[in-house]
Amino acid sequence: MERVAGDSGQGVASRYNPLDPEYAGRIQEVFAAAHREAPVFFSPLYNVWVVTRYDDIWTVLKDPTRYSSSLSTNVAAKDAPEVIAILKEGWGQLSTLVTCDPPAHNRYRGLINKAFTPRRVSERTDFIRSTANRLVDRFIDKGETDLIWKYAYPLPMTIIASILGVGDGDLDRFKKWSDDLVARLSFDLPKERLLECARSLVDFQRYFDGLLTEREKNPRDDMLTDLLNARLEGAAPLNRGEMLSMIQQVLVAGNETTTSLIGNMMYLLLEHRERWEALCADPSLVAGTVEEALRMESPVQGLFRIATEDVELGGARIAKGAQLQLLYAAGNRDEAEFAAAGEFQMRRDNAASHLAFGGGVHFCLGASLARLEARIALETLIERIPEIRLVADRQPRRIAHFFMRGFEHLAVEWSGVR
Ligand code: HEM
Repeated sequence: MERVAGDSGQGVASRYNPLDPEYAGRIQEVFAAAHREAPVFFSPLYNVWVVTRYDDIWTVLKDPTRYSSSLSTNVAAKDAPEVIAILKEGWGQLSTLVTCDPPAHNRYRGLINKAFTPRRVSERTDFIRSTANRLVDRFIDKGETDLIWKYAYPLPMTIIASILGVGDGDLDRFKKWSDDLVARLSFDLPKERLLECARSLVDFQRYFDGLLTEREKNPRDDMLTDLLNARLEGAAPLNRGEMLSMIQQVLVAGNETTTSLIGNMMYLLLEHRERWEALCADPSLVAGTVEEALRMESPVQGLFRIATEDVELGGARIAKGAQLQLLYAAGNRDEAEFAAAGEFQMRRDNAASHLAFGGGVHFCLGASLARLEARIALETLIERIPEIRLVADRQPRRIAHFFMRGFEHLAVEWSGVR
């Protein structure tokens, strides 16, 4: 029977609450119930249609005309006047790249592709490896560490900072900006915190405005210089506000996501330690393990679209103007696409067709960087600390966020040292 608003999978909807601390342990059950009972359901709590089937998610991704990205990362209400007043001291909050649709998106994506190139990623390989080893050097003699804070967090942060040309002395500020700009994307932040995050955004913009001005005078072989020089035939070059908005997206999109990937992956491996042992015995499984971790424990569980006209999707009728959440994580556990979808399989042949990086015109700009970092992070631990295990009596703590999935802390220990 066709479902319409008002009869829209309430049973499943009542179980969908990413901000409930219990929800994190129940995603397999909720996703399976949605696939079975209401693959597209309406969540009255969050006022959003949730799309859970792999094929339905692709239908939306392939159709940016009918499904707009104008609020793709945002379910929160509009900024309060006090927040807007702070943002006015900087360049405001421009809509570029991830929050805009073709044809404007084509210009932004084309221009940033000139700066964030495969070369910029691959030339970082040695630096990623040396950074991973340097981080391990700092804790290896202690026999235990918090893998998130000492490894999964500083690794991508250091790499993105270096790609963006941030000096070592500014890393602490850079970390704060990154945390605050990600925090802005969740629900239920207290007002004081919202104001703090807005101030961070303005600080961040001023800092990078300074770096861009410096690069104009003294060009370098780096991403910022490439961004300044990026040109596309028939398209206007980026203005300063647009550049800052794109740099902001690289910073926000590239840090916590990759931290979560490394943390989620290590938890999947160590929670069933025979998986870790299998990987140490055959490191050729590393690339497949990264893909399977992205599929099973997607760091970005789902992002948003707006219906630009009345649509029917997965048996639900959705009105023009309604918001949809594309639950990539649920698509990644859809049995119709992935056999035994709830099982972690390092040798799954189609793992890489997951939706963890989205798809279509907004496919993740940093996917190759994230994959490279995760592989090197894993290889370094296999080589340096094969004895690593979870600390039995310390429960890992998950981050509280509407659409990010990862750990805040992950205590690990080992005995041998290399
Ligand atoms: C495991 C790590 C990562 C995950 C899971 C992830 C996930 C995603 C997803 C799901 C999207 C699609 C957005 C949508 O559907 O609207 C996306 C887009 C994007 N990602 Fe990533 N990302 C990761 C790492 C990175 C890194 C390292 C960068 C840094 C360059 C980055 C930069 C971006 C940008 C700029 C976009 C917007 C692209 C566009 O709209 O054209 N991401 N990412």
